Amino acid sequence: MFITFEGIDLCGKSTQARMLVEYLQSRKKKVIYVREPGGTKISEKIRHLLLDKDHVEMEYVTEFLLFSASRYQLTNEIIIPRLKKKFVVICDRYFDSSTAYQGFGGKIDVKDIKSVNKFATSGLKPDITFLLNITPQESFRRKKIMNKAGDRIEEKTLSYYKKVVDGYMRIASSEKKRFKVIDGTKNVNDIHQYIVSVINRNI
Ligand code: TYD
Repeated sequence: MFITFEGIDLCGKSTQARMLVEYLQSRKKKVIYVREPGGTKISEKIRHLLLDKDHVEMEYVTEFLLFSASRYQLTNEIIIPRLKKKFVVICDRYFDSSTAYQGFGGKIDVKDIKSVNKFATSGLKPDITFLLNITPQESFRRKKIMNKAGDRIEEKTLSYYKKVVDGYMRIASSEKKRFKVIDGTKNVNDIHQYIVSVINRNI
C-alpha cells in the first residue's frame, strides 16, 4: 500500500506521517517512511539545490523539473522496490505537491504538470492521500510561533499559498476516492485516530 501526505507548510502532515509509521510498526507491519524532495542520496542533493535561498535565479521550470527528477529517483530506487516487497510506503509529499505548488500556485500549465508527473512516477499513484487542510493564515501563524525561518519556497506570499490551498482542494475534489481531506486545525490525536481508521479499513 502506498500512502501519501499532502498540505501546505506546517499543516501537520509530517507529524501525522510519523505517527502512522509508529502505529504500523507497533502492528508489526513492514513500513518505510520517505519524504519529498529527498529520500535517496541523489534526491537529497537535489533537495539542497531546490531549497537553497541563494538560488534566487532559479527558473520555475527548472524548479519543477528538479522536483520531478528527485521524484523519479525516489520512486524507482525506493518506492516501487519496497511496494513489490509488500511494504507499506508512507511518503511525505508526492506529485500532488507539484500540481498544487508549481501548477495551481505557480506559472506552469497544470496539463503539462500532470503529464510530467506521470512520467516522473513511472505511472505510480498513491492508494490513499491524506490532505491536511489549513488556511495560509494559519500556516503563517504557526510559522511565527515556531519562529521558523523559511526555505526558498516557503518564503512566498499569502496570496501564493491561497492559490496552493485552493489548488489542493481542486485536486482532491477531482479524485474523491483517493483523497481524504482532513481539517488540519483539529486535535493531533483525533486526526491520528481518523487516519488509523481509514488505514484499517483499507489494509
Ligand atoms: P520541506 O521542508 O520538506 O517542507 P514540508 O515540511 O512542509 O514538507 O520543503 C519542501 C518544500 O518544497 C515545501 O515548501 C513544498 C515544496 N514543494 C514543491 O513546491 N513542489 C513539490 O513537488 C514538492 C515535493 C515540494
